[in-house]
Amino acid sequence: MAEREAKPPEGVVAERGARPPEGEVAAPVVPLCNRPANTEAVRGRAVSQLDLAIVLAAGEGTRMKSALPKVLHPIAGRPIVDHVLAATTALNASELRVVIGAAREQVEAHLAVTFPQANLVVQAQRNGTGHAVQIALENAPHLGTVLILAGDTPLLTSVTLQEFFDAHIETKSDASVLSAHVPDPFGYGRIVRGEDGALARIVEERDANEEEQEIDEINTGVYIFDIAKLRGALAGLKSGNAQGELYLTDVIEIMKSAGDSVAAFASNDYTETLGINDRSQLAECAAIMRDRINDAHMKNGVSIVDPTTTWIDSSVEIDRDVTIYPGSSIFGKTRIASGAIIGPRTSLENVEVGVGAKILESRVSDSTIESGANVGPFSFIRPGTTLAEGSKVGAYVEVKNSHVGPGSKVPHLSYVGDATIGSGTNIGAATIFVNYDGVEKHQTTIGNDVRIGSDTMLVAPLTVGDGAYTAAGSVITEDVPAGSIGVARAKQRNVLGWVLRKRAGSKSAESARKAGATEGSTKVQGEA
Ligand code: UD1
Ligand code: MG
Repeated sequence: MAEREAKPPEGVVAERGARPPEGEVAAPVVPLCNRPANTEAVRGRAVSQLDLAIVLAAGEGTRMKSALPKVLHPIAGRPIVDHVLAATTALNASELRVVIGAAREQVEAHLAVTFPQANLVVQAQRNGTGHAVQIALENAPHLGTVLILAGDTPLLTSVTLQEFFDAHIETKSDASVLSAHVPDPFGYGRIVRGEDGALARIVEERDANEEEQEIDEINTGVYIFDIAKLRGALAGLKSGNAQGELYLTDVIEIMKSAGDSVAAFASNDYTETLGINDRSQLAECAAIMRDRINDAHMKNGVSIVDPTTTWIDSSVEIDRDVTIYPGSSIFGKTRIASGAIIGPRTSLENVEVGVGAKILESRVSDSTIESGANVGPFSFIRPGTTLAEGSKVGAYVEVKNSHVGPGSKVPHLSYVGDATIGSGTNIGAATIFVNYDGVEKHQTTIGNDVRIGSDTMLVAPLTVGDGAYTAAGSVITEDVPAGSIGVARAKQRNVLGWVLRKRAGSKSAESARKAGATEGSTKVQGEA
């Protein structure tokens, strides 16, 4: 991170102790305790002196055109605001506050689960980012350092935030702004520097003149302030701008003219600072996040054949020497052990995949696929399923809430629901576990080394004992004891000469005649 500015001389101390204007009622603020462990890459660095971190997430998100609040839209399986909070909490600020407002109930309910340590501050009237910070500072410490960032920049990393914080401390600045040089600065606040190259002020797109609009260095909306000096500057904010709002960005000019030292530090990677305001930006950020996640897995020894079509949630764990073929999506709390082969075109959600398992062109959710098991192509494995070691579920097979034992096979065209299948058993093609009587679901238990004939209907509740068989095409409604064969189908009858009599002149009749058939006999084979 390049320091872009020489530190200005020590100057007049900003007005101290000015109280912010009365805002809406702030939620009771309690000190942060039991912070989660720092999970990101800033571990091992000097303990930061951040007293407070404020995430601004009260905005309407109008441009998303969504019933879901903007900050709750997921990327890589996690809401936008959670990415921001994860990067922020890695800096171990003494307290974390999130300003909420629009769709407040939904955001509040969500954060209570994912970041219960965050203190929520309500901004009922959204009167701009400066206003949001005024409210957030109510009952906050009067001295110390505060980090402020927007809740809609999910690509920011804790590493960049830590570097920014380090730069702020090293330069002994009173206010630091994280900036970035971007290919298209349209819509962002611009960093205006004086002739000496020092940060002078920030001007919003709508308030910028033509010359200022040419500036490609933008305000990322991430700041670090001396709390006391920020309070003083906030008290001087005015809403005489294009949006009639209190802009947080205006505190820079106010602080500068009060003699405080202000600086802008440019981020090396501008993609980290991209904000999400509409669905196109959501997709753009999701693609960048996808590439980041895939790169990290590849660095760890995972083969991803086509990273552009492989979507992996940030929560997924993958061991080395796993191969993922194109068009695969891996979501939620999925864990994949080494040597497994996934894809192409496979979707896994909350799946435990064992060593060397293969899942080809299939969809699996909330299930366990043990080591060496084989799934697909075109299998649908639904919640509550365990496919034990070395088992196989083949083409066009649906399995739900069932256990398929070690080495057992369901190779073709079957439905297995609410069943327990022992080891070494084979379920013939097109077998249906008839688990539903229209009112309730029933259980089927199949023993070890069983052979279920093709096209068997297993009408639950039912038990088929060890080593038993069923005859192909049977509708099995009674238990089959160990070592027996269950036969439950109509006996076959052949009505001789029927085609020659009833379909005379047809191609079938002609072929039958060539094969020696005659219409004379009316005998029925298979009847007494
Ligand atoms: C803001 C900055 C701009 C910067 C850009 C970076 C100001 C005036 N402008 O513009 O310089 O380039 O971010 O992305 O700050 N919010 C509230 N309460 C409010 C208004 C906003 O909590 O009353 C929150 C929003 O939810 C959002 C953040 O503050 O998370 C930024 O607000 P937004 O309206 O997106 O500001 P930008 O126009 O993007
Ligand atoms: Mg924004």
